[in-house]
Amino acid sequence: MKLLVTGGAGFIGSAFVRMAMGETGLRVVNLDKLTYAGNLENLVDVEGNARYRFVQGDICDAELVNALVGEERPDAIVHFAAESHVDRSILSPEPVVRTNYNGTFTLLEAARLHHIARFLHVSTDEVYGSLPAPAEADERYPLNPSSPYSASKAASDLLARSYFVTFKLPVVITRASNNYGPYQFPEKLIPLMITNALEDGSLPVYGDGRQVRDWLYVEDHCRGILAVLHHGRDGEIYNIGGNRSLPNLEVVHQVLALTGKPESLIAYVKDRPGHDRRYALSSEKLMRETAWQPVMNFEVGLARTIEWYRGNSAWVERVRSGAYRTYYERNYGNRAAVT
Ligand code: NAD
Ligand code: TYD
Repeated sequence: MKLLVTGGAGFIGSAFVRMAMGETGLRVVNLDKLTYAGNLENLVDVEGNARYRFVQGDICDAELVNALVGEERPDAIVHFAAESHVDRSILSPEPVVRTNYNGTFTLLEAARLHHIARFLHVSTDEVYGSLPAPAEADERYPLNPSSPYSASKAASDLLARSYFVTFKLPVVITRASNNYGPYQFPEKLIPLMITNALEDGSLPVYGDGRQVRDWLYVEDHCRGILAVLHHGRDGEIYNIGGNRSLPNLEVVHQVLALTGKPESLIAYVKDRPGHDRRYALSSEKLMRETAWQPVMNFEVGLARTIEWYRGNSAWVERVRSGAYRTYYERNYGNRAAVT
């Protein structure tokens, strides 16, 4: 089996490529633009493997995408490539809409033209928007996205589904909750708090810090994607959650406890505009239809993630280059601490 993976140099994509390459006989072609979030250092484990090929390119480039799909004729496309960060989508929505919507369109068209047997579109629980407690979103829950990021993902989900309904393209969609684990770019909550805490930097908590997220270890997510790839039914949507809901402040407190740092590092800062209060996901359908379930305990996964960041300070230094500092200043510079 040959997969065309998009965005395989990012956080989840690279974990998926490492895992998929472990499957005997599986071949992977990785198409990635290498934006600020793409990093070939994440893939040193598979570099040089005869079953792996890397192609640098933009999923919005129809000519390149069509030529690549025509040349490689993959059995499936697993589509991770995206602008994946809510805060950046608020600061600069254009690349988010372009990659997440137009890029998905380009891939769907190429898949249709070349009769690809499976198109797995990787999406997010953020498409359901903020849920009142104690509701949990199953796959039929209404779409109610709040940020340019989540709206662009919801739009691309609908487009992908339309290709199944209209053109019978064998599309499957996965919607995962918040991922954490090694190699995550330190703009998202957990790696940002870990890397700042390890350097005794301040930990910027948006608003009151009581927003709730469901946390999924990245390898549990990738196993869920493999389960859907092999066993998912055409045209269906599958939620992939970690079954571990926590308020942000509790996550931050656990990071402080595990790094041995004081609570005085916490800085309450101006809230994110349009900030979703609570995500909660039911993965009942995936568990019922496949043998998948999330297995990583959050405390163990967090400790493992912290150890990874502790042992990979050179990786952290390299990704926090000049461009990261410019972003950091833009996002946090005008968020004066609120006591
Ligand atoms: P990431 O930001 O770490 O990586 C994104 C990758 O896509 C990078 O390698 C980047 O270079 C590549 N890319 C971006 N624009 C591209 C373009 N135009 N053409 C080709 N490549 C491009 O993202 P991630 O956290 O690994 O997320 C992967 C996918 O999973 C995304 O679709 C995201 O919406 C989804 N998702 C993420 C989470 C999460 O918690 N991170 C949760 C649920 C779903
Ligand atoms: P994030 O990792 O950006 O994921 P998402 O917004 O996609 O859920 O943020 C997770 C939660 O953490 C969210 O409620 C926003 C909050 N947050 C902070 O409080 N401070 C920060 O510096 C960041 C990046 C996030």
